Amino acid sequence: MSRRISGFKPTGPLQLGNYVGAIRPVVRGQHEQDTVAFIADLHALTVQHDPVLLQSRSREVAGLMLAAGVDPDRTLLYRQSDVAAHLELHYLLECVASYGEAHRMIQFKEKGGGGGSRLSLLTYPVLMAADILVHDIDEVPVGRDQRQHVELTRDLAERFNERYGRTFTVPRAVHPAFAARIADLADPARKMGKTNASTAGVLFLLDPPDVLRRKVMRAVTDAGTEVVYDPEGSPGVANLLDILGALTDRAPETIDFRGSGYGRLKTQVADAVIATLEPLQRRYQELTDEEIEAVLAKGAEQAAQTADATVRRAKAAIGLTGGR
Ligand code: TYM
Repeated sequence: MSRRISGFKPTGPLQLGNYVGAIRPVVRGQHEQDTVAFIADLHALTVQHDPVLLQSRSREVAGLMLAAGVDPDRTLLYRQSDVAAHLELHYLLECVASYGEAHRMIQFKEKGGGGGSRLSLLTYPVLMAADILVHDIDEVPVGRDQRQHVELTRDLAERFNERYGRTFTVPRAVHPAFAARIADLADPARKMGKTNASTAGVLFLLDPPDVLRRKVMRAVTDAGTEVVYDPEGSPGVANLLDILGALTDRAPETIDFRGSGYGRLKTQVADAVIATLEPLQRRYQELTDEEIEAVLAKGAEQAAQTADATVRRAKAAIGLTGGR
């Protein structure tokens, strides 16, 4: 059975891109695959953060994952900072990664990486590699934005194995068949992201239905009138078709809107988004903080067992006292 991992940074409220690109693949895959899903709260410390908000956001992310159908009996769900092995392996991997490699990462540049940014922003992808390698993962289902980080993970695993003997499983990135990158509705050149400066084009999983509908109806399209799937020429319309396709399990280019305009497309997208998120929001409201924390505590205990074993193996290989 192959093993998969997904991570979610609690830097803001989860949005539809997280759901389509990562949460739903976890829910759908958890019956056939060994699945690990974790709240990447250590990663949230790489940019300015509010300590109180971080705690509540971490719990919110976990709650939303449970509400979306992540089954804690099938998926190992935990909070990254509860399992120290991530940090131990992070350091060992920093000793096989180079400064140049970390510096080349697109997200470092996109997030304004420069002299004043936190050092952890630069080493972020190495921590991500540790997250993956600590669990002997085969597949990492991520949106396209994370592909480069998974490539770095592969490089570090191969380099470590070559230098110190076979220690890590070398993972690969897998992308959802459709909608691997949902764009911001107000600015289709940007990806939909939980920290986008304006929230007008971001569909948050906990937005009330009327807000979701308003955001979809105001989505940027273009001066045309015919609905045609053309990601290059008409990215706003293509993004709406991507969303509709993803939520109704159809390839976007096969959705037929001949003879009808953008208004009808938007109405259908809004209906599909609301039909998906309303039941999720209802289940989320029913969960208590205690229930969520109990799931996370049990998950951390289980995660530590396998993760500690990997760290012991890596320490022994690199010349530290790994046996203890
Ligand atoms: P994060 O928290 O930004 O996003 C979580 C997951 O959601 C996907 N995603 C999207 N997919 C499609 N369209 C979008 N607009 C969109 N926005 C986000 C992301 O690809 C991701 O799968 N670095 C990671 C967290 C992480 C991680 C890991 C992931 C840390 N360690 C180890 C996998 C394995 C991140 O920032 O995800």
